[in-house]
Parts: sequence; structure tokens; C-alpha cells
Amino acid sequence: MNPHLLTTFCALLESNAGISLDLSKEYLIKARLDPVARNNGFTDCEQLLQKLVSSPLEALHWTAFEAMATHETLFFRDSYPFEMLRETVLPSLIAARKASKQLNIWCAAASTGQEPYSLAMLLQDFEAQLQGWSIKILATDISATALDVGRKGLYSKLDTSRGLTKEQIARFFTRTEGDAYQISSKLRSLVEFRTLNLITPWFMLPKFDLILIRNVLIYFNRVHRDLVLNKIHQQLADEQSYLMLGSSESIFSSDSYQAVRIGRGSVYQWSRR
Ligand SMILES: C[S@@+](CC[C@H](N)C(=O)[O-])C[C@H]1O[C@@H](n2cnc3c(N)ncnc32)[C@H](O)[C@@H]1O
Repeated sequence: MNPHLLTTFCALLESNAGISLDLSKEYLIKARLDPVARNNGFTDCEQLLQKLVSSPLEALHWTAFEAMATHETLFFRDSYPFEMLRETVLPSLIAARKASKQLNIWCAAASTGQEPYSLAMLLQDFEAQLQGWSIKILATDISATALDVGRKGLYSKLDTSRGLTKEQIARFFTRTEGDAYQISSKLRSLVEFRTLNLITPWFMLPKFDLILIRNVLIYFNRVHRDLVLNKIHQQLADEQSYLMLGSSESIFSSDSYQAVRIGRGSVYQWSRR
């Protein structure tokens, strides 16, 4: 493909969605945009790119940006972070918030919903202690298509087999026609799905006791990563609140955060320096 077209598209993608790609990813761009080109009446990916780089931002651009994002996720991804939540983070937050009886949680790149629902399932283990509490989980993503899946809470047999035990499937899902599984209405009512682009200004967000932003900052350049982490810092309610990143992600140089080691993993809190 024409390198100038590719470079211009990558610059558009990065400045609007934060996703950083270069020409070495030509195969990926083609694989992800070929279906968008076909579905929108273009002869091939190159013709689609031609249109995207020569016209003002419109719905087609966002369809292409969504297609370029990696939406891979699964229930209880990497399992250890959820053990840290169960054993340490949630008990500590429940103790810290016993006066207000409120927990506000944000999954800031929630994709198709497996992560916020894993949290909702985990919270069921604290049901007795959380009687009468207000619990909210906000699940946001740039992809409205991914969020629609989460909002419906409908998953295939394969999706549920990735990360869930038979007991969890029996407890939290009902079997629907066509071999799909729907997450219970009780868990669905805990999670609100809303589109939000991490690299543009955020409006109307409350403060949070726990923020998960997992497996998305790896796709951003340094400037966007720092920008998002600075904004996240302002969304944490106080020094008892927690931030959790993906298992392969960490914050190296920041005066704003300190890593709190829990066994072989880490979470982040406001720095006390
Ligand atoms: C790999 S998934 C991570 C899902 C989940 N957090 C996990 O760890 O399993 C990355 C998600 O980030 C979303 N994303 C990419 N760029 C974004 C942006 N600028 N704002 C919000 N979400 C974004 C993608 O749409 C995708 O659903």
C-alpha cells in the first residue's frame, strides 16, 4: 500500500484514538480494515484509506478506528489481579468506606464487558458485608460496538469457557437460545456501559475508589500514556483509592503514584511523597 497513505492514516488514528502504529504494522492495518472497506462499498483497503485521509472526521473514521483497536479480553484475565482484589484491595476498600457505604469502580477500557462483570462476580463474595451499600461499576470504552455486547451481557460458550468455572457459569448466567449465555440481571444492574475516549477531555465523571485501566495503555505512545495517567490520578477519590493496570504494564517514573506490592503483583495509590 502507498506508504504516504498509511503514515497519514496512522497519524489520524493516533491523534484521535491514541492508538500508536507504524508502517511495520501494514499487515495488521490491512487485515483489520479490509472488512470495513468491503462493508462500506470500497473496492479495497487502499481506497478506504484514500477516503479517510482526504475527508473531515465522520462516522466512517470512527468505524475504522474501532476496527484498529484490539478488543481481546476474558473473564478474570490473568487470574492473579483478581486474587489481589479479592484478598487485599476489596477488603481494604470496604473497611475504608464503611462510613459512607459507597463503592465507585471504573473499568476504563472495558471492551465487551468481561472485566467489569468479573468484578461484579467478585463483589458477590462480599454480599453479606455490602448489604445496604451503593455499589456502582462504570464500564467505558472507545468502541460502542464492544460496549453493546457488554450491555446485553450475552456471551458464547467459548467466551464463558475462558476464565470461568462451571460453578460460576451456573451461578451467574442463564442459558439462552442459540447456545448463548446471558449474565444475570442482578450483575447487569451493577454495571453501566458508556462510551468514553481516554485521550479526549472527560466530562461528568465522579471520583472512584478503584480504577482498572488494563491492557490499553500499551497501545499508546508515552505522551498519551502520561496524559491518561495524570487524568486518572485526579479521578481517584483519595489516598485509600486504588489503580490497577494490566499484568504487563507498570508506572515507572511518576511522582504522583506509588506502587503497592501485593505478593507477586502490584497496584497503585497516590504517592505519599
Ligand atoms: C485489549 S482490550 C482490554 C480489555 C480489558 N481491559 C482487559 O484487560 O481484558 C483494549 C480496549 O481498549 C479500548 N481502547 C483503545 N483505545 C481507546 C481509547 N482511546 N479510549 C478508550 N478505550 C480505548 C479498545 O476499544 C479495547 O476494547
